[in-house]
Amino acid sequence: MTLTRKTLLSATIAAAALCAAPLSHGQAQGKLKVGLMLPYTGTYASLGNAIENGFRLYIGEQGGKLAGREIEFFKVDDESDPSKATDNVNKLIKRDGVDVIVGTVHSGVAMAMARAAKESGTLLIVPNAGADAVTGAMCSPNIFRSSFSNWQSAYAAGDVVAKQGKKKAITITWKYAAGDEMASAFKEGFEKSGGQVVKQLNLPFPGVEFQALLTDIAAQKPDAVFAFFAGGGAVKFVKDYAAAGLNKNISLYGPGFLTDGTLEAQGDAAQGIFTTLHYADSLNTPRDNAFRLAYAKTYKQQPDVYAVQGYDAGQILSVGLNAVKGDVGKKAEFAAAVEKATIDSPRGAFTLSKAHNPVQNIYLRKVDGKENKVVGVAAKALADPARGCRS
Ligand code: PHB
Repeated sequence: MTLTRKTLLSATIAAAALCAAPLSHGQAQGKLKVGLMLPYTGTYASLGNAIENGFRLYIGEQGGKLAGREIEFFKVDDESDPSKATDNVNKLIKRDGVDVIVGTVHSGVAMAMARAAKESGTLLIVPNAGADAVTGAMCSPNIFRSSFSNWQSAYAAGDVVAKQGKKKAITITWKYAAGDEMASAFKEGFEKSGGQVVKQLNLPFPGVEFQALLTDIAAQKPDAVFAFFAGGGAVKFVKDYAAAGLNKNISLYGPGFLTDGTLEAQGDAAQGIFTTLHYADSLNTPRDNAFRLAYAKTYKQQPDVYAVQGYDAGQILSVGLNAVKGDVGKKAEFAAAVEKATIDSPRGAFTLSKAHNPVQNIYLRKVDGKENKVVGVAAKALADPARGCRS
């Protein structure tokens, strides 16, 4: 038989088999199309990679399948650019026809994704971006978050800083939703506990021209500085802060993003910094130890909070898909199962609120060598207030 005749024959057989196969649930559903929309370039590139690694680690532990379905990945680099976000998310929804989207890191990009997910009904699991509205005013039965809200990550820090005896603080952040929301949540927590925010500084994302702002901080002499930067920007900020000598007299605090996944590069400049976050390097629980070992073996590097969030996005997807036997069309059943579940996260077990944001412990951590070591729990089982969510 010639190659062409053989190919033709097998194509005919395949087509006949397809027509004959009843479209039942389970194996006949074919591959599950997962869209990863993450930053693979720019200041948040390392965060995007860690999220993908964590997500793939979990899928790998399930034998590469969820609810019996193999996974097919579609990837988009969102560049942490909100102006391209709607086009980018539509590549996944309309062009590739994905069943579920996992993304992203940047709050501004995530807002556009949440809008598109709400309109199209596509399942969305946010593995980082903390934009309060995603599980607030934009909350939706098909939108879930495996990470945190911006409010959650910064509110607890306010109380901690006040309890450490600091009276006057300055906040410094990038000027976009994440920075704005974290600065205002810090202020809310700090002032409730008796402190006062005397100035709120910011610069455009992803700028790293910190010098003029550091000069301003030196002139104001607050007792504390609360800073939100992450990825490459956090490395530069922490180093510049120390190089300016500010770390000797004005204690630097932040949400844990300031020192997570960055300590290798920050070195001495980061030593002793206190941060608050829903993860830490030294939890030393069997669950976290197993996760850290598996991650380190697979990727030859230590995991960070972003890796955990990617891993847990996989867990949330798995819980929902198992409940609907792989049929993503059953949105209400999918949501009901996730709402009832306890996610066995490396960070510690958590549940999702009605608005689909983790209810979780916020740890107080202190940088010691290359680790964010736990020194306490800043807030136990903290739930985001989900302001504006009416579902
Ligand atoms: C955000 O934009 O929501 C964001 C980005 C990076 C982080 C944390 C929050 O590390």
